[in-house]
Amino acid sequence: MQLQTIGARKGMLLFILAYSLIIEPLMAPSPPPALPSPAPAAQAVSAELERHIQAVIEASGGWISFARYMELALYAPGLGYYSAGSVKLGGSGDFVTAPEITPLFARTLARQVRELIEGGLTEIVEVGAGSGALAADLLLALAAMRCLPARYSILEVSADLRERQRARISQTAPDLVERVQWLDVLPRRMRAILVANEVLDAIPTHIVRRHDGAIEELGLILSAHDGRFERNYRAATGELLAAAAALDLPEGYETELNLAARAFVKSFAASMERGALIFIDYGFPAAEYYHPQRSRGTLMCHYRHHAHDDPFVFVGLQDITAHVDFSAVADAGFGMGLRVLGFTSQAQFLVNCGIIDILSETQPADVRSYAPLAGQAQKLLSPAEMGELFKVLALGRGIDRPLLGFARGDRTHTL
Ligand SMILES: C[S@@+](CC[C@H](N)C(=O)[O-])C[C@H]1O[C@@H](n2cnc3c(N)ncnc32)[C@H](O)[C@@H]1O
Repeated sequence: MQLQTIGARKGMLLFILAYSLIIEPLMAPSPPPALPSPAPAAQAVSAELERHIQAVIEASGGWISFARYMELALYAPGLGYYSAGSVKLGGSGDFVTAPEITPLFARTLARQVRELIEGGLTEIVEVGAGSGALAADLLLALAAMRCLPARYSILEVSADLRERQRARISQTAPDLVERVQWLDVLPRRMRAILVANEVLDAIPTHIVRRHDGAIEELGLILSAHDGRFERNYRAATGELLAAAAALDLPEGYETELNLAARAFVKSFAASMERGALIFIDYGFPAAEYYHPQRSRGTLMCHYRHHAHDDPFVFVGLQDITAHVDFSAVADAGFGMGLRVLGFTSQAQFLVNCGIIDILSETQPADVRSYAPLAGQAQKLLSPAEMGELFKVLALGRGIDRPLLGFARGDRTHTL
């Protein structure tokens, strides 16, 4: 009896030990990871940007829209996230994009670009070229296919990134850098292939909500208590109100609504005499974007490879993004006379363009070369990574033939 009791106690002890060491930690909610502290010099730039935004709020009568805040946080000259000198993209930055992950992305996209070049479009315009990785690798891939464009123009808002792009292209593709030019504005008339990878998500967005039946817009005021930024809602008006009303949002629903992205696409369309516009980004068609269950929107911030949803910390030191409403983008182009040439997932687009063939140019037996490439391809294609969340939308004018990238699995009907 006593032996039995001792055995039972031992069993219980073991159970408690195992529970507290293994099971409990698995069940307890894990705290959000602590974000690394910025260096003192970065903190000083951030504090200066905060003071600048505070002055803008005061000069604007005490309130600015979230879209204006995002514009200042990302693009205020010399201080904003994309304008100041920090490394943004890549391993030592805050986030990675497909061209940063692997040249396979550019090499595969090059096949779609080659088809358009052979169809008579001899210029490429890249919008928002980041580190210059896509430009360099696309030019190298096109050179290898003997299908170089006459010119490769880059429209880039950030002076700092322009310099990084020039350095990257000069280093990676020195013989091709003289084909590259940087534009301050788009030419009035273009006959070109326009490419924008992860640019629309970085365009400052409005945030709206339905509250007590009315449509309101998120903005910022300065707290009476300590002068810091404070969320504040106002009745939406004008174009924003009309666009939000058309979404028929349920009570309590809050979401982004990107009027500037629509205007951006319209300005490209206005310049495009003949050509194709290829937008690659994370996002959804409107029915999915404004799904009743996505009631808190899609806003995300990236700081040192941590993703979180507070746009009011690390001001100017973190990226702020929102997913793209591809129906609105298509509609903006359609309103300017462009046609949808195709819409599909990134995975489907890359497979249609022949990423598997490109991968098979490297022999699997050559494990040292093949294994990293296969891993990179998996990141681009896997539905759990970029393959499904990222989409490719092509709009065009004067392009009659179907495009390679949308040969199978076109989802234009979902827009
Ligand atoms: C998220 S990064 C993507 C960079 C690059 N395309 C890539 O995939 O790695 C966004 C880029 O768009 C640029 N950008 C944002 N707004 C822009 C605008 N209005 N005109 C031109 N470039 C812009 C940024 O400066 C940056 O280069």
